[in-house]
Amino acid sequence: MSPGAAGGSTNTRTAGAAGLQNARRIGVRIAGAGSCVPKTLLANVDLEKIMETSDEWITQRTGIRSRHVSKPELGETTAHFALESSKLAIKEAGVDPKDVDLIIVATMTQDSPAPTVACVVSNALGTSNAGAIDLNAACSGFVYGMNVGHDLIRGGAYRNVLVIGADRITQHLEFSTFGRSTSVLFGDGAGAVLLRATDDTTKGLIAQTMHSDGGGSKYLYIPRTKADFPTPEEVDDRKIGLVQMNGAAVFKFAVGTFSKLIEQTLEKAGVDASEVDHYVCHQSNARILEAARERFGLPAEKLHVNIDRFGNTVAASVPLVFDEIRKEGRVKEGQKVMFLAFGAGLTWGSSLWQL
Ligand code: ACO
Repeated sequence: MSPGAAGGSTNTRTAGAAGLQNARRIGVRIAGAGSCVPKTLLANVDLEKIMETSDEWITQRTGIRSRHVSKPELGETTAHFALESSKLAIKEAGVDPKDVDLIIVATMTQDSPAPTVACVVSNALGTSNAGAIDLNAACSGFVYGMNVGHDLIRGGAYRNVLVIGADRITQHLEFSTFGRSTSVLFGDGAGAVLLRATDDTTKGLIAQTMHSDGGGSKYLYIPRTKADFPTPEEVDDRKIGLVQMNGAAVFKFAVGTFSKLIEQTLEKAGVDASEVDHYVCHQSNARILEAARERFGLPAEKLHVNIDRFGNTVAASVPLVFDEIRKEGRVKEGQKVMFLAFGAGLTWGSSLWQL
């Protein structure tokens, strides 16, 4: 542990005056990344066999060709994906799990209300009683987690923060003609990054945003009881526990929000769109991503798309893209990366990093 920053035992994990004074002298780097998806691949042609849909309908409207779906009977839980992706991120970072100070798991599909996914991960990794939080901002959760994790390091409270996006949304879908409007859109998985304090103060967040509009909750929700439907007319027992979405309203919100988010983040940072090397965006629809790419005149190699192979994996979506482009060797020291997401809530946020 470096002097001035909190370390591996519980009684030093609180930001003190010294930590805050050091804040401006602490940089933050993304030291490792990892991801994990279910073994089972479900292609559009497989869906054609179990519901009234077509590869053409799904591909043209969303860009999705296949997705990975979990089988809990194989032990494929949200915590499983979170843990496996974390192990890879920690290994790549070369950090001892005992030195992980805080685990933030962005998820809207905890395996149970208690324990949290973060506590399950902490125990399985063998941390020294690291802080552990589940954070729910739906598809924006990982981006929110990056912002929070970064600022807790820069503030001097922690040195090693694991940020994970993990979801098993297929438990809230029905793979039948009745549920086809949402079940074709999503997949399961997780991605993780290990954020580390560094003496190089040029590294870390340049700008961040986090927003919400609860007034838009009616466009995307999962009812637990009849009381959770926005109006009495919409109550339908068959829909309880299943994702409900007004696709057209969410589409309109998403297209507008992506552009505004990029503009707002660039303005805060004083950076031109062309200076950002990678746009790592939530993957909900290839057409939404294409609209943003065209609006800012970005080359395809800067705004990454993997929805064709994973579908919308909720909080896992952004870190899955990031891990993929890192593995391909496209992410380099000194580059600028903007993470962007929007989701149920409604929520949206961004995180612009200097690597
Ligand atoms: N296969 C075949 N037909 C289907 C299917 C399907 N899987 N699903 C719906 N249809 C039918 C509908 O019933 C409708 O038929 P009708 O006209 O006879 O009533 C027709 O196809 C058209 O449906 P629309 O909903 O109008 O299709 P649209 O072109 O709007 O595309 C889509 C739907 C893909 C969902 C689009 O609205 C969208 O992508 N919205 C944004 C979704 C999004 O981003 N969600 C995630 C947000 S946040 C988060 O990630 C949690």
